[in-house]
Amino acid sequence: MNLFNVYPLFDITPVTAKDVYVFDEKGTKYLDLYGGHAVISIGHAHPEYVKAVSEQVAKIGFYSNSIQNPLQVELAEKLGKLSNCDEYELFLCNSGAEANENALKIASFHTHKKKVLAFKNSFHGRTSAAVVATDNPKIIAPINAQQEVNFVDFGDLESVEKILTQNKTCAVIFETIQGVGGLDESTTAFYQGLEKLCKATNTLLIADEVQSGFGRTGDFFAFQKHKITPDVISMAKGMGNGFPIGGILIHPKIKASFGLLGTTFGGNHLACAASLAVLKVIENEKLMNNAKEISNYFIKNCDSISQLKSVKGRGLMLGLEFDFPIAELRKKLIYNHHIFTGSANNPNLIRILPSLTVKKEHIDLFFDALQQEL
Ligand SMILES: Cc1ncc(COP(=O)(O)O)c(C=O)c1O
Repeated sequence: MNLFNVYPLFDITPVTAKDVYVFDEKGTKYLDLYGGHAVISIGHAHPEYVKAVSEQVAKIGFYSNSIQNPLQVELAEKLGKLSNCDEYELFLCNSGAEANENALKIASFHTHKKKVLAFKNSFHGRTSAAVVATDNPKIIAPINAQQEVNFVDFGDLESVEKILTQNKTCAVIFETIQGVGGLDESTTAFYQGLEKLCKATNTLLIADEVQSGFGRTGDFFAFQKHKITPDVISMAKGMGNGFPIGGILIHPKIKASFGLLGTTFGGNHLACAASLAVLKVIENEKLMNNAKEISNYFIKNCDSISQLKSVKGRGLMLGLEFDFPIAELRKKLIYNHHIFTGSANNPNLIRILPSLTVKKEHIDLFFDALQQEL
């Protein structure tokens, strides 16, 4: 049987990985500044993570959500403390799209409204409501298109106000820093304005932290820099360091009821053990501080690249924007220097999304390679 061919692939076959390095079947070592799309948060095969996941699967890997699972409770407690979002409640699922899908459903249940407001250049996933809130008509199937979404320029509060005051919108969904779109971030005044407008119009504010959450920006969640309180926060990628797990944090003003949301696999024992290990390592190794420190070092190094148009993003969610398409440059970094980086919707932008354990010496390797190729 053939695989359904939806991914253009690099001709590289990773078979093992350790911290910020990935090794192919011939033993070639690649520096991973992409983290498998912002997923690797505490480093590949971190010993504490390997131990926690291995020991858990040997005990009990899965049972359905019809029994007590103390690991879910432990995860909610630890996550609440480390993220400073203790007052929220946690619903666990399996991916970023599913987290946003559930966030949008909650908003519609809570407000009894059905339109969504999203921003141009957004990416929220590929499930039914999440994909329609994604600004990319190519991935929206006719079956999804019934969902009504208004797209507004990122930063345009006036248009947001015009739409929300019609009282038909259940949720505003936003990425504090747009990931796939190309690392744009708006101003504190904008995010606080969104919060105010949502409150005034009984609209839920959903912060999509699927890519920017779990410490990647140096804050636990990227929105925290702007001192806002979203109604729902969605998470995934860095949450399991590669183990599929997602979730939403739900403000206590939204009441739970049996059957409102549900999932077979979400919050299983193995996923909880993986995410708990991630949180412990982030805390013990002070990885949010490291994200800030290495980010500053990276940004300083950018001064040496005269061809660079701008550096975007925050923490270890960074974009290097040139005034030419970077596809060839990325290939050269992979094949000539064995360094993985990411791309974005903006064809001129290289994305840097390493593990939060990355060190200055790895950044030096990247800039040496970049200088040579430019
Ligand atoms: C901001 C954001 N939201 C949602 C998603 C979808 O996550 P998943 O691919 O786990 O469904 C992504 C994936 O790139 C993302 O970057």
